[in-house]
Amino acid sequence: MNKLFVLCLLVHTSAFAWDALPQHASAPAENPMTAQKIELGKKLFFDPRISADGTVSCNSCHNVMKSGDDGRPHSVGIQGKEGGRSAPTVWNAAFLSVQFWDGRAKSLEEQAKGPMINPVEMGNSSHEPVISRILKVPGYVEEFKKAFPKEKDITIDHVAKAIATYERTLITPNSPYDLYVRGNKKAMSAAAIRGMATVQSVGCLSCHSGANFSGPTLPEGVGFYQKFPRFPGSEYDKKYDLTSDSGRFQVTKNPEDQNSWRVPTWRNIALTAPYFHNGKVQSLDEAVRVMAKTQLNQDLKPEQVSDIVAFLESLSGKFPDQKMPRLPDISGKAIY
Ligand code: HEC
Ligand code: HEC
Repeated sequence: MNKLFVLCLLVHTSAFAWDALPQHASAPAENPMTAQKIELGKKLFFDPRISADGTVSCNSCHNVMKSGDDGRPHSVGIQGKEGGRSAPTVWNAAFLSVQFWDGRAKSLEEQAKGPMINPVEMGNSSHEPVISRILKVPGYVEEFKKAFPKEKDITIDHVAKAIATYERTLITPNSPYDLYVRGNKKAMSAAAIRGMATVQSVGCLSCHSGANFSGPTLPEGVGFYQKFPRFPGSEYDKKYDLTSDSGRFQVTKNPEDQNSWRVPTWRNIALTAPYFHNGKVQSLDEAVRVMAKTQLNQDLKPEQVSDIVAFLESLSGKFPDQKMPRLPDISGKAIY
């Protein structure tokens, strides 16, 4: 066999396509993108009035002026309450087939309803008070009419649809990696190019595949889950408390899902420390070592780790500018 043939064979049998992130996220048929919905959803995303006491907005924990998270191990919600998991970024969440670390929401629409009634996030007792506050703001009533012209009432589904539509604009194509795979061979550093080969050769891509590096592209609602740790018993289990949260098991109650998690994206991963569902790992190089050990049972050499980190850094995208929108106000009346 000549060398070229072997190379082709390798490329084909490895079946890994280096895909760039699409320039647009697609929307479900029942919630098409419109300019009015994007604008409305953006206002709701930034509006703390959808929380029980007017203090917490989606942006509080998913700061889209930066990397779309809060940089904390655990988020802080209403009245300083703390949850047990780290906030993932909302940037490129539109490309995930299921939402949350454990995949318990099948779409962005379904996800958006969760925080408003989560006692440690926005703290509403139900969605009803959210809607009644929105109805007190004439500007919102007008905007809902424009965004949902065929609908008579404002419901929580409309709120969620608008927010999800805004989130579908929060995407970061055109990272150095995307430019590189589209043909600009100067877009990535030599270390990043070596790292790209390393993540393939050591086996990371068996889980982190696809343009979003979060596994195969599946229909909305179908998640790609893996055990973490897949090889239990390393020093890291205890050091970073990797097993006390049972993950997907809490959703399905199926013993096979014990410590299973949705495979998360690598997009902008260099900007979203701390790492993992519990936010216990502080640095990206340590996260890479933990992954190699717990998922592949491998100890990487220091230069493999630094090359992989360089590759992951090349997945930091160009963030479209976000401007804090002016929120519709209410005249002469208190809302709380
Ligand atoms: C108090 C902090 C907090 C607030 C407020 C909050 N979130 Fe989150 N968000 C989180 C945490 C923590 C998670 C992960 C929870 C889990 O997976 O169990 C999360 C998960 C998500 C995800 C899933 C991302 C992924 O990778 O799976 C999306 C999307 C999201 N939030 C959007 C929103 C929207 C929209 C709002 C406002 C309606 C909001 N969040 C309000 C903390 C917050
Ligand atoms: C067997 C599947 C599998 C393999 C192989 C794998 N990962 Fe992961 N990876 C996961 C899962 C599942 C998570 C989510 C873990 C959790 O619950 O926090 C994850 C999380 C991560 C995170 C943290 C994400 C975040 O937002 O905090 C990084 C970084 C990462 N992986 C990098 C790698 C690297 C680099 C390799 C190869 C050395 C690799 N992974 C191999 C399944 C895998």
